[in-house]
Amino acid sequence: MTEVPTITLNNGVKIPQLGFGVYQIEPADTKKATLDALEVGYRHIDTAEMYGNEKGVGEAVREFGIDRSDVFITSKLNNSFHARDAALKAFEGTLATLDLDYVDLFLIHWPLPMIGDYVETWKAMEEMYAGGKVKAIGVSNFQPEHLQRLFDETGTVPAANQIEVHPYLTNDVVRDFDAKYGIATEAWSPIAQGKVLDDKTIVDIAERVGKSPAQVTLRWHIQRGDIVFPKSVTRSRIEENFALFDFELTDADVSAITALDRGERTGPDPDTFDYVPKG
Ligand SMILES: NC(=O)c1ccc[n+]([C@@H]2O[C@H](COP(=O)([O-])OP(=O)(O)OC[C@H]3O[C@@H](n4cnc5c(N)ncnc54)[C@H](OP(=O)(O)O)[C@@H]3O)[C@@H](O)[C@H]2O)c1
Repeated sequence: MTEVPTITLNNGVKIPQLGFGVYQIEPADTKKATLDALEVGYRHIDTAEMYGNEKGVGEAVREFGIDRSDVFITSKLNNSFHARDAALKAFEGTLATLDLDYVDLFLIHWPLPMIGDYVETWKAMEEMYAGGKVKAIGVSNFQPEHLQRLFDETGTVPAANQIEVHPYLTNDVVRDFDAKYGIATEAWSPIAQGKVLDDKTIVDIAERVGKSPAQVTLRWHIQRGDIVFPKSVTRSRIEENFALFDFELTDADVSAITALDRGERTGPDPDTFDYVPKG
């Protein structure tokens, strides 16, 4: 059985460095995809209220029959619930939908700096943490200035910051800021939803080391120390993306991939993203 390394968060909680992401998996397909991932050996699942598929994740965990303490589950607070009372209620909703007693990590999904006050939201996250039904709290898509406000105005440093990172958006300014303050970086869209897989630099390294471009890209993240959770509904790719621990990239390979950075986002810009779902 593959041993996935763990990263210790700033409150001592351990998170597997490789997990399984379920963004854009249809609710009806989520239980099956998550069961596939658990069978392959993944022990960390990344979902969100926004994805509409927390239910399938919880069903898979229960059906697989694993000890709850042997799987790490992350979910996220949706953008419509940033006010304190709404946030606390939404967190209970996530637990109810997952049908689990606790989540391992709960994140503010987006900071929404144009429209709300994420500091109020973070104080609600501190209340959730004090309640004991979440093992660690963090944020997602927070820029350094957003994190700085949390440091200045509250008493808790986020355990993790989940941000877009891949070879075309290395996001090193945010990663370095996270590292400086002991915040674990989680790299979302780690293969840029497939966009980096034809890149000549990555393809050439993959041919040389006898691995696929996806494996090389995911291994690059692992060697940079980030946490990743590639998404796939394809069993062979779920297996492929898990097979990252029987080879290593050289420092030169890591640097060559890092040099592909062109500041290209696949998703929204956190400074201006202001989408709030209705209802
Ligand atoms: N916090 C945030 O704001 C945020 C935003 C986006 C994502 N995320 C998290 O990050 C996770 C991963 O990001 P993502 O889903 O956007 O993108 P991703 O993991 O970079 O890419 C997923 C896409 O690549 C394909 N793929 C997967 N493995 C492959 C392989 N080995 N070879 C070729 N193609 C492959 C998948 O196709 P098939 O499924 O068809 O196989 C799917 O189309 C999400 O699921 C979610 O948990 C968080």
